[in-house]
Amino acid sequence: MPDLMTAAFPSSFLWGAATSAYQIEGAVREDGRTPSIWDTFSHTPGKTAGGDSGDIAVDHYHRYRDDVALMADLGLSAYRFSVSWSRVQPTGRGPAVQAGLDFYRRLVDELLSKGIKPAITLYHWDLPQELEDAGGWPERDTAHRFAEYAQIVGGALGDRVENWITVNEPWCSAFLGYAAGVHAPGRTDPAASLQAAHHLNLAHGLGASALRSVMPARNTVALSLNSSVVRPLSPGNAEDLAAVQKIDDLANGVFHGPILKGAYPETLLAATSSLTDWSFVLDGDLRAVNQPLDALGLNYYTPTLVSAADAEPRGPRSDGHGTRDHSPWPGADDVAFHQTPGERTEMGWTIDPTGLHELIMRYTEEAPGLPLYVTENGAAYDDKPGPDGRVHDPERIAYLHGHLSAVRRAIADGADVRGYYLWSLLDNFEWAYGYGKRFGAVYVDYATLDRTPKSSAYWYGRAARTGTLPE
Ligand code: NOJ
Repeated sequence: MPDLMTAAFPSSFLWGAATSAYQIEGAVREDGRTPSIWDTFSHTPGKTAGGDSGDIAVDHYHRYRDDVALMADLGLSAYRFSVSWSRVQPTGRGPAVQAGLDFYRRLVDELLSKGIKPAITLYHWDLPQELEDAGGWPERDTAHRFAEYAQIVGGALGDRVENWITVNEPWCSAFLGYAAGVHAPGRTDPAASLQAAHHLNLAHGLGASALRSVMPARNTVALSLNSSVVRPLSPGNAEDLAAVQKIDDLANGVFHGPILKGAYPETLLAATSSLTDWSFVLDGDLRAVNQPLDALGLNYYTPTLVSAADAEPRGPRSDGHGTRDHSPWPGADDVAFHQTPGERTEMGWTIDPTGLHELIMRYTEEAPGLPLYVTENGAAYDDKPGPDGRVHDPERIAYLHGHLSAVRRAIADGADVRGYYLWSLLDNFEWAYGYGKRFGAVYVDYATLDRTPKSSAYWYGRAARTGTLPE
């Protein structure tokens, strides 16, 4: 058994960073872009901290060349970004706008010229507002619109981008967006959120087929799930184990059931039967959703600790999203959430690298032979430049060291993990939290938009260059 602290990662391992369009691009009214649900939501009073929006974000739309140069200087080998649907297909229907596609083509060419492998996410939560006005994700047609959009982008960039992700964290879109209402479009309708989840699955399946119809066969099609690691408060208690089953179905099974196995879990259908009869799942849908995947993307931040609702909740709920009036867990009112023990990041999320190892091993068992990528992992801290003008973030280095060690351990245990994308390259618009939470390896001064790599960026760059984790 090699010493895992010093053992090298596989030489083909991708050392990446990730971002998403609305969180970094800005330029929301340029070159024909129309509003997305996040433009509308962030401009609705009271929806984001301080009324922050992505109007300017970190101005990546105009500074992408510098941002790519920064990644190259650090030594990163991969970059995962998302395409803004409203930029390439304003209003979500009809012909593509050349200027929108050209931006992404320029970005991709810049990456390739520096030897950085691009990975494109097609949907990172920014639905064109017109499609929400027509019903949004609870409306079936949205999945068909997505397939058309996937075909446009795949046709334009499939010759130069190998790695594709259809949908990012559909859990957040469906349940934070349509049940809890803390994400765009801010609806609080539990039954509609289950419909949204199904149509996001359908969008993934139809989108994957559309991509494959226009792209070279060597390209890989995946999706990124924020699969939760759900643990019981009392492992010996049958009611707590039932609560785990319920949340695991709503966090994981609702997506990987149909996507990997072609069926929704029976336990999920039973637990949600008072909300819906699932008659929106039409004949042929599950076949369309259950496309063979080329890889699976896992986003991991923190585990979730639950019990039956009659146990006294300890501290704030640990579903990672704070307290709220409306639950993002339809049909699970009898489940209580608990604070997991241990140190926490600025998001209040407990740091627990064992959860990442557990998640990777779970998918290694459930989907044997399927290559895995950690498509997001990272931490927010209250970073500030010191008197020397540098940004020292030893906590983030420790976080990355712990989680990358967990990945290395999983590889040693037989998992086929092909790469890791740190969330995030740059400080950016953290959705409802606005700019208050800094996830970047690169610090952004929001007054000047100047970029300063934090010490974690240099640490990560060294890991990328050497394939081992520096002390
Ligand atoms: C997951 C999301 O994909 C990303 O957009 C978000 O910023 C991070 N988690 C951190 O919350």
